[in-house]
Amino acid sequence: MEFVILNGNIINRSEASIDIEDRGYQFGDGVYEVIRVYNGKMFTAQEHLERILLSAKKIGMEITFTVEEMKTLLAELIQKNNVQLGTIYMQFSRGVSPRNHPFPVPAVPQSFVAYTKEIVRPLANLENGVKAILKDDIRWLLCDIKSLNLLGNIMAKQEAVAAGCYEAIQHRGDIVTEGSSSNISIIKDGKMHTHPADNLILNGITRRKIIEVCEKGSIPYVEAAFTLADLENADEVFLSSTTSEITPIVEIDGKQVGNGMPGPVTKKIQVLFDKEIETECGSLKANMK
Ligand SMILES: Cc1ncc(COP(=O)(O)O)c(C=O)c1O
Repeated sequence: MEFVILNGNIINRSEASIDIEDRGYQFGDGVYEVIRVYNGKMFTAQEHLERILLSAKKIGMEITFTVEEMKTLLAELIQKNNVQLGTIYMQFSRGVSPRNHPFPVPAVPQSFVAYTKEIVRPLANLENGVKAILKDDIRWLLCDIKSLNLLGNIMAKQEAVAAGCYEAIQHRGDIVTEGSSSNISIIKDGKMHTHPADNLILNGITRRKIIEVCEKGSIPYVEAAFTLADLENADEVFLSSTTSEITPIVEIDGKQVGNGMPGPVTKKIQVLFDKEIETECGSLKANMK
């Protein structure tokens, strides 16, 4: 039996349903998070849950659960579904109301949905790297909000997949922003470059961990926008996200990155990142490494 969270209650998935006039369904009016689970424990839950509160605030929604309440509920869901290695998906929408663009007055209860999935680590991609395409970033200008509106992202991802690639590296004019579902970083002369956490990217939790491990591991880094030319001349390129972790990018638009193999700085960051996972969630067993 699989359990899910619906509006704060843990129930059977087969009994969970959402009204056709839910604003998440009709307008994409809501926010979401994806949290990784290793050894049955959530990784960086605090950061993800703080980010969902912030995303909600930015769209004028005050989530009625505290971080601690959400943590307790999600941990119970993981336990009930017996997830060892996987993810939690969670979303809050502005609730159910007759279809009309303005926010409902008076406000209606938010819809809160969460479920778990068993997912292995993408070990082959982590080791060998993936291919990417370049794509105009046509999304709106509030990419810092983890909003349910993902049309720009999914269209970019689909173009990458149709081209036999894993990710679309988006750019606004000359400036590289982020992937369709990941942040993008480059290494040049041993230094890691990542786009600053402004409105043009989602401030990835993995990206923040990478900055933390760069500090711990004495890897120089800079949070500064970089150009398409910088990307082309980079020694190493990688993408980062909760599910893809730190995945090397070895080819962009058919052109090899560096020598076409995952580079030493990326590998060092991967090792340091694994240590962070192990510190929070316990050791990664043979089939997880
Ligand atoms: C557009 C976008 N940027 C960046 C990320 C990476 O964020 P995180 O590391 O918090 O998963 C994601 C994750 O899904 C994303 O969708």
